[in-house]
Amino acid sequence: MNILAIESSCDETAAAVVRDGRHICSDVVLSQSALHAVYGGVVPEIASRRHVEAIVPLADEALRQAGLTKRDIGAVAVTFAPGLIGALLVGLNFAKAAAFGLGVPLIPVHHIRGHIAANYLAFPDLAPPFLCLAVSGGNTLLVDVRGYTEMHILGRTRDDAAGECFDKVARVLDLGYPGGPKLEALARGGDPEAYALPRAKVADAPLDMSFSGLKTAVVNLVHNAKQKGETLDLPGLAASFQAAVADVLVSRTMEAAFETGRTVLVAAGGVAANFHIRASLERAAAAAGRRLYLPPTKFCGDNAAMIGAQGYYEYLAGHTAGMEQNAYASLEIDAV
Ligand code: KG4
Repeated sequence: MNILAIESSCDETAAAVVRDGRHICSDVVLSQSALHAVYGGVVPEIASRRHVEAIVPLADEALRQAGLTKRDIGAVAVTFAPGLIGALLVGLNFAKAAAFGLGVPLIPVHHIRGHIAANYLAFPDLAPPFLCLAVSGGNTLLVDVRGYTEMHILGRTRDDAAGECFDKVARVLDLGYPGGPKLEALARGGDPEAYALPRAKVADAPLDMSFSGLKTAVVNLVHNAKQKGETLDLPGLAASFQAAVADVLVSRTMEAAFETGRTVLVAAGGVAANFHIRASLERAAAAAGRRLYLPPTKFCGDNAAMIGAQGYYEYLAGHTAGMEQNAYASLEIDAV
């Protein structure tokens, strides 16, 4: 089945055609990041307006690149949660109209389920059950993926998401938006032990994470140095920060692997593009004898192909919706 997939939860407008959940026929992403960079972060109203302008030509382009016509589409999948509500509504309403007009099912897809499913596009042999570390700008979750549509949250951040923390630290270092890749570039060649930064643990919740203390520690270091007129070792600070995030993510992932007995580990989301985090996960998985799947970096960020992949499995599970389907700014991955 050919699924036309739409993603508009944040600052990427994306459309794709995916066949049977595993084969990408086309995958078009229009990033708005240059539009938001001047503000140092995503401006929701600007994002919504840009989605409105981009969505129709982008969906046409996805069909054109797939070499298909509207009549070849068997269903329309769309991100309906979580994300910026105005941005989500643009994609959802386009998808509703497309599904209604074509007379095909509408499949609502949870954004983080989509990030996890990006791995199905890259790895034909990957199938649940597995343990997934899903790390993006808005979410940091450890998910026990028991089936394609059966998810159980094992651990989560109690405050900032890892990507959000990267972005905020990058902002205080004047690196610009989006901060993750810029901070990673600054950290290259820096000493990861240059600064002693905290790795928080959450009492009574060994698989949960917390990044706000780490963020505050870096912000305080920078402000104190500015006030005293001291020069910081910026590559060292970036590398120390990155190492602290990686330590927390990797240690929780391995604890969850031991607790569940899962032998297959998977990473997903924008932060999974970070080289240091990928290398740390690889080392830990190899030492523990676990099989690790790391998505190619082009599948880590937001795209619609991942929504088409997950959409196929939601469809097989009977998870289709009517025209009353709403969008939700926040929704648990296991509440679908
Ligand atoms: O998955 P994603 O594209 O969007 C969401 O669904 O949130 O993730 C975006 C987040 C941003 O916070 C961005 O700074 C972070 O992923 N990110 C990175 C890297 N590339 C993107 N963080 C660290 N290192 C990177 N290389």
